[in-house]
Amino acid sequence: MQELQALEQELLNDVKGADTLERLENIRVTTLGKKGVITTHMKTLGQLDGDARKEVGQKLNTIKDTVMSALMAKIEDFKLLELNEKLVSETIDVSLSSRDRKVGKLHPIAQTMDEVVAIFGEMGFSVAEGPDIEDDWHNFQALNIPPEHPARQMQDTFYMPQNAEGQNVVLRTHTSPVQVRTMQARTESLKKGEPIRIIAPGRTYRCDSDMTHTPMFHQVEGLVIDKNINFSHLKGVLANFVESYFEVSDVPLQFRPSFFPFTEPSAEVDIGCSRKDGTLKIGSGEDWLEILGCGMVHPNVLRNCGIDPDEFQGFAFGMGIERIAMLKYGIPDLRTFFEGDIGWLEHYGFTNFDVPSLVRGL
Ligand code: PHE
Repeated sequence: MQELQALEQELLNDVKGADTLERLENIRVTTLGKKGVITTHMKTLGQLDGDARKEVGQKLNTIKDTVMSALMAKIEDFKLLELNEKLVSETIDVSLSSRDRKVGKLHPIAQTMDEVVAIFGEMGFSVAEGPDIEDDWHNFQALNIPPEHPARQMQDTFYMPQNAEGQNVVLRTHTSPVQVRTMQARTESLKKGEPIRIIAPGRTYRCDSDMTHTPMFHQVEGLVIDKNINFSHLKGVLANFVESYFEVSDVPLQFRPSFFPFTEPSAEVDIGCSRKDGTLKIGSGEDWLEILGCGMVHPNVLRNCGIDPDEFQGFAFGMGIERIAMLKYGIPDLRTFFEGDIGWLEHYGFTNFDVPSLVRGL
């Protein structure tokens, strides 16, 4: 019996020490196989007498069971291990690295409009809008430009079929028709003592296309109508704007007499600058640079909009957005504004989204 006890221990140790499935299989064969130790012992049982046969038989069966279950457990372990190795080796990385999220930039036109709106907003101006597709009356006639007026030649544009009222329809050549629409809409409130103080930024169109002109461009219109408004108010507002926008103080302004059918007197405004060594500096200097057209609203225009020129007066101005953007940000070529070049936008665009704007997206 002692011998059997030792055999059991030895076999269990063998199982424990087996490090491959083949070794385990080997143990199984040499233990429990046809010629295995246990089987061989079983065969000798018949030579023993009653009690001893029973005792030894039971012990042999126990050994058989314990070794067998140890073997099975060990085989399970190996199988799990193998499975695990297989899983690890077959792992597929299904994750995908994230794409760079690019934050867009504000186009210099949008940025400039925001700045203009903010500066005039401080002075009490609100934003007004009008349609890009305009009728002849608002774009020309109400502004004192009758059908055969030579001023139309400078503002040749894109013409569309007549509208239901039999009027010619055009892409607006300037933002000045917004003056007309605003005055018409506010005649009553004006009489009640509410002055008109608006700016109108937006797209404008002309049949021009060369180095310094694009068929579509942007303007911002300004209009103030109240009692006792005079030219010095216009001058004060424009001086304040120029200094805030270009961030310089005491910019010399030059009002050059000019002609617009819808203002009288009319002027073109130049700002002082220097062009030494090929670089343009806004502010003081020996040179002048034109930035806008302006004047006192013509009595005919007021009348056309239902306002009595003996009671109300006002001034208006119109400015090119691209022009003032080019001057402030040193953009040399007008056409690049509309080429949609991402590299250009990356360079000249703005990440300042602070100023909430009514005009962004115009
Ligand atoms: N509408 C004019 C232009 O486009 C500019 C302007 C506006 C002039 C208002 C005077 C007053 O050239």
